[in-house]
Amino acid sequence: MQYRFGQQHSVASAPEVSWQMTEQSLFMQAARGHPTARPPVWFMRQAGRVLPEYRAMRERWSLLDICAQPELGAEVALQPVRRFGVDAAILFADIMLPLIGVGVALDLVDDVGPVLRHPIATPGDVRRLRDLEPEQDVRHVLDTISLLKSELGDRTPVIGFCGAPFTLSAYLIEGMPSRDFARSRAFMLSHPDAWHELMQRLTRSMIAYLEAQLARGVDVVQLFDSWVGCLSPEDYRTHVAPYTRAIFAALAPRKCPTIHFATGAWALMDEMIHDGATIMSVDWRVPLDDAWARIGPTFGIQGNLDPAALLGPPEMIEQRTHDVLRRAGGRPGHIFNVGHGLCANTSVESVLRVVECVHHYPIVVQEPMTLATA
Ligand code: CP3
Repeated sequence: MQYRFGQQHSVASAPEVSWQMTEQSLFMQAARGHPTARPPVWFMRQAGRVLPEYRAMRERWSLLDICAQPELGAEVALQPVRRFGVDAAILFADIMLPLIGVGVALDLVDDVGPVLRHPIATPGDVRRLRDLEPEQDVRHVLDTISLLKSELGDRTPVIGFCGAPFTLSAYLIEGMPSRDFARSRAFMLSHPDAWHELMQRLTRSMIAYLEAQLARGVDVVQLFDSWVGCLSPEDYRTHVAPYTRAIFAALAPRKCPTIHFATGAWALMDEMIHDGATIMSVDWRVPLDDAWARIGPTFGIQGNLDPAALLGPPEMIEQRTHDVLRRAGGRPGHIFNVGHGLCANTSVESVLRVVECVHHYPIVVQEPMTLATA
């Protein structure tokens, strides 16, 4: 049996917050695979987007303005905790911030996403990308974490995150969101040495970034590999997995729960389960019980509800939420979430309805666990 869930979170430079108490939270208990009275619930893209109080802030500030001011970033991260009663806060930031920090010129265009001024086109361009020095290059993000931790105390854990090397390199090469990432795949296959160099640079930077987030007190980290599902298993194994594995291996001594997120990547799952995360995020393309059977009992599972369901009528939202809960079957290690970020036009009422359903769903069976540590 593979040992995956760590026992105690300990970070040398932890802030004033009591780690032991945060460890007792519903989210951390489930994230470590312990039985809980109900699954914890949070939503990818819960901060920003759907909340009117966030939209009001966006009238005045751009996304990057908000991220640059820790008081504002912390406020946005707290809004869904207050309004939805979710069991974890996610740091308000964007996967592109560390790239901006090392000097990559880009705009976050509304309703489009990151658009680069000078995408990577040749192997020579890769050498322009320097390593991230977190305390210098993304100090505002780290300060947001410190503020958030002091606001939340030991009640609600904070999820830190970064983009995975593949998804970051896809933006660096494409220059903008893409349907099939053909340019990135072509670069990867045509220039294997430059690709290796690019992935190595991003891997080093993301390890430093996540280490810095943990040092400021995040309780859990999530690696967003949103677009890796465009690869074949063989290309994933050869050109991506070594770097993803290096990130999780570097964090392993921290013993914090780690979430591996991808979409449309079911064909890669047999590879991804060897990458070293303790929790797999699954989208809506596979039933949760089938996913768990294939991923195996040593992992926690997050996700699965189709975010598009939240755009439908209340009865359908309830029915889909119950379906996910029924398929999870009260298994320890289940973290309720959507399979990808909430859609922009989701109503507050729909999110609240899902939360209500999760809160009131009777957990009948809590099988003795094979996955958790003591
Ligand atoms: O989840 C949260 O609530 C925390 C904040 C967060 C943002 N981006 C803020 C944001 C997180 C976790 C991210 C991660 C992110 N950013 C990912 C990985 C997750 C995923 O959805 O796959 C990716 C691929 C990006 C890149 C990015 N940033 C895109 C594609 C977009 C535009 C798309 C859109 O729907 O508008 C952004 C902009 C962005 N980042 C917004 C937010 C809240 C949009 C709203 C705004 O501009 O205020």
